Amino acid sequence: MQKVGFIGWRGMVGSVLLERMRRENDFQGFSPIFFTTSQQGQPGPDVGGGALPLRDARNLQDLADMDILVSCQGGDYTKDIHPKLRSAAWRGLWIDAASALRMNGESTIVLDPVNRPAIDRALDAGCVDFIGGNCTVSLMLIALQGLFEADLVEWVTSMTYQSASGAGAKNMKELIAQMADLGDAGRALAADPAGEVLELDRIIGAKLRDGSLPTAEFGVPLAASLIPWIDSALPCGRTREEWKGMVETNKILGRDKQIPVDGQCVRVGAMRCHSQALTVKLNRDIPLAEIESLLDQANDWVKFVPNEKEATLQKLTPAAVGGTLTIPVGRVRKMALGQQYLTAFTVGDQLLWGAAEPVRRMLLIALGRL
Ligand code: HSE
Repeated sequence: MQKVGFIGWRGMVGSVLLERMRRENDFQGFSPIFFTTSQQGQPGPDVGGGALPLRDARNLQDLADMDILVSCQGGDYTKDIHPKLRSAAWRGLWIDAASALRMNGESTIVLDPVNRPAIDRALDAGCVDFIGGNCTVSLMLIALQGLFEADLVEWVTSMTYQSASGAGAKNMKELIAQMADLGDAGRALAADPAGEVLELDRIIGAKLRDGSLPTAEFGVPLAASLIPWIDSALPCGRTREEWKGMVETNKILGRDKQIPVDGQCVRVGAMRCHSQALTVKLNRDIPLAEIESLLDQANDWVKFVPNEKEATLQKLTPAAVGGTLTIPVGRVRKMALGQQYLTAFTVGDQLLWGAAEPVRRMLLIALGRL
């Protein structure tokens, strides 16, 4: 029976992965072994075979005893441990949610609804590193798969509205703490029907600027505001998150001709859904109805939402999509720029299809179950 080691299963992405695997009854037909960087020997999670003691996630021998390692521990762990295992000639499969190895020549970015043939080819060729993609990239590709597959896309801009979850668990808490403080400051006036709205705005504005909100994680208030910067700066003027949009999209699509993908990445006060306003330059003019049907039928998770107010409000918001695997795409129309310019809006759960699900499915593929 194959031995599969899990590292970083207690973090946010790892917890979502475990939850999904439990729900889908995935813990069977292989031997799951749980590792820890800090609690060696303590009981691990019981996923059906009893709670076994946790193993040391820095013990190379224990790790190398696994056929497959699944890491949600983060990039620093990957950068430390992966090269050591590979130089010790470990040839098991390394499946990782972190970005550290994504752009390595030998690794495959996994998003099987879109690039299953590339994953199968890599497995057949003996490749051993399979890495989940950046969340906005994975969510955009699932949403627009129908257009990419029909080879209709000349270029894409993606203007993102990224949730706090993409920045981490502490950031989600900080967002809510900021909201709570703002709520406390404005509650009386907001509840008073005769309350002066400009006075309410003055109180909230003062609170946003007086330095009293918790900002240890984001650096500035996100609640009642936004942050048009995600990740580090690159010399080209893009942030690293914006750079990933083009390089990862093209690596996943694996075409000879690069498709330009660019835009601005913005953090907003959503909890766990990333949204994206897309402009697609089509390489030919095709009727809208055909585009809608291509989008809707591309995979099992994308759902076309008619460009109507009620459907949009009910189906195309982070509030509606959070916690689900559905990737709605709506607000689809030709733009005033010309018949080959399409706009669309999409929303997806950053922790599910944006992080844990591609990793979960890659494990099932590796185990021959998908
Ligand atoms: N980098 C993403 C974000 C999350 O900050 O929202 C991980 O893909």
